[in-house]
Amino acid sequence: MKKILFVTSEAHPLIKTGGLADVSGSLPKALAELSQDVRILLPNYQALKIQGQPKLISTLKVDNCQVEILETLLPDSSIPVWLVDYPEFFDLPGNPYNDAQGQAWPNNAQRFALFCRIAVEIAMNRAQLDWQPDIVHCNDWQTGLVPALLSLEKNRPASVFTIHNMAYQGIFPAADVISLNLPGQLWNPDGLEFYDMLSFIKGGIVYADHISTVSPTYALEIQTPEFGCGLEGLLSHRKAALSGIINGIDLEQWNPASDPYLDHHYQSKTLADKQANKTALQQQLGLPVDSNVPLLGLISRLVAQKGIDLILECLPELLEMPIQLVFLGAGDSAFEQQLQTQADLHPEKIALSLGYDERLAHLIEAGADIFLMPSRFEPCGLNQMYSQRYGTIPIVRKTGGLADTVTDSLPHSIADKTASGISFNEAGAGSLLEAIKRCLLLYNQPSTWKKIQTNAMRKDFSWRQSAEKYLQLYTSIQSENKPHESA
Ligand code: ADP
Ligand code: GLC
Repeated sequence: MKKILFVTSEAHPLIKTGGLADVSGSLPKALAELSQDVRILLPNYQALKIQGQPKLISTLKVDNCQVEILETLLPDSSIPVWLVDYPEFFDLPGNPYNDAQGQAWPNNAQRFALFCRIAVEIAMNRAQLDWQPDIVHCNDWQTGLVPALLSLEKNRPASVFTIHNMAYQGIFPAADVISLNLPGQLWNPDGLEFYDMLSFIKGGIVYADHISTVSPTYALEIQTPEFGCGLEGLLSHRKAALSGIINGIDLEQWNPASDPYLDHHYQSKTLADKQANKTALQQQLGLPVDSNVPLLGLISRLVAQKGIDLILECLPELLEMPIQLVFLGAGDSAFEQQLQTQADLHPEKIALSLGYDERLAHLIEAGADIFLMPSRFEPCGLNQMYSQRYGTIPIVRKTGGLADTVTDSLPHSIADKTASGISFNEAGAGSLLEAIKRCLLLYNQPSTWKKIQTNAMRKDFSWRQSAEKYLQLYTSIQSENKPHESA
């Protein structure tokens, strides 16, 4: 049995802004099912949805900050979640990264540096918790200083740094190196320095014993200029210690046969019952109730990554087609406004819900016929997997995890029963439109459509296999773990 400290800035259902939370809420559970001892470390944000009163388990002073560590459980599990309680940084309205007005917290470097320092104290068993992990598993830039600081320790646990998205790197002014009191050895171009700025993500990429990302295809893509966001050289330099492990999904939370957010349950054998969810969705959003019209859904952060501009560019032609569109999302105000304008102009065709709404997300997965995910890049992506499990055919761009989890519906893949969606190559509105047309042709062939739905619903997206891969990875780095040579 390994002791694993899972360090993350969000974990569903306690706090979520995107897929990192889904992974942090479900991978530890899958590891625990493989009999591992996992503890999650999370900042004690004001917005956390905790059941009951967390227990104070330790008080420690780091960098002149008096920090408390509280313990709660990941809901519906016996996994301890340790909360870094420092009210001045975390007990504030807003989300983990932005204030209530949507502006990045001005002291994000300080907030997450403190979080990382506490992770190191726990990792080195200096937090009076009487527990020393074998593995510290860090996620995204918010945890990047952990492998860097750990590399300076003797007899340290092995570290894994998982990249969920190269587009977010945690870049701050160089002056923060001093104000954060970071050890001088880490400050050089082969360390935390990135074009005279301080880069948190480099702390993970340079110093972790192993770097993983959330799909095999993305692991290759980030070694190229198109996807590496300026760090492709470093990533390919470390390619011997870089791999891709595809995310799984939580099969209990995303199960059309028992989803508590749905009034009408179904499974692959009772696909006709999916229809009642479509009716419920149309009714709820004020669209004309029509069982035949193809309903296309989208649930997304409204940012450039997700190809929202491609959809907007296609809209004039889409609006000529006999379809309905349901959009749920929040993000860049320009995208929000453009979608709102279109929804106001075409209320009989477009239903838009701006904001974050978990219940509606489940109803869209169940009620839509087709799911749109034309991402420009997608490290893994979860909604295309949720969609397949709900028999909602995803249209995806062939990139990252979308390429690894969706099989395009072509004559041969339909024949061999692997077809589970539609994928297209080029990040252009023309290609997206063509893919949508191809999908609608299949939609109009009910028996083929049903076969594709059934293939999609029967795919195995469980965490088990991926959790086993993480476990193998932990074992391999533990055996070769040695203090990192200084950069
Ligand atoms: P990313 O992490 O890049 O946003 P993923 O596909 O990995 O993309 O995960 C997104 C997660 O966030 C999914 O669980 C999705 O259902 C959820 N989500 C995104 N936007 C919303 C929203 N507006 N309301 C509810 N859930 C949302
Ligand atoms: C990131 C990526 C997304 C991935 C998620 C969880 O937010 O954008 O593709 O699914 O992390 O790993």
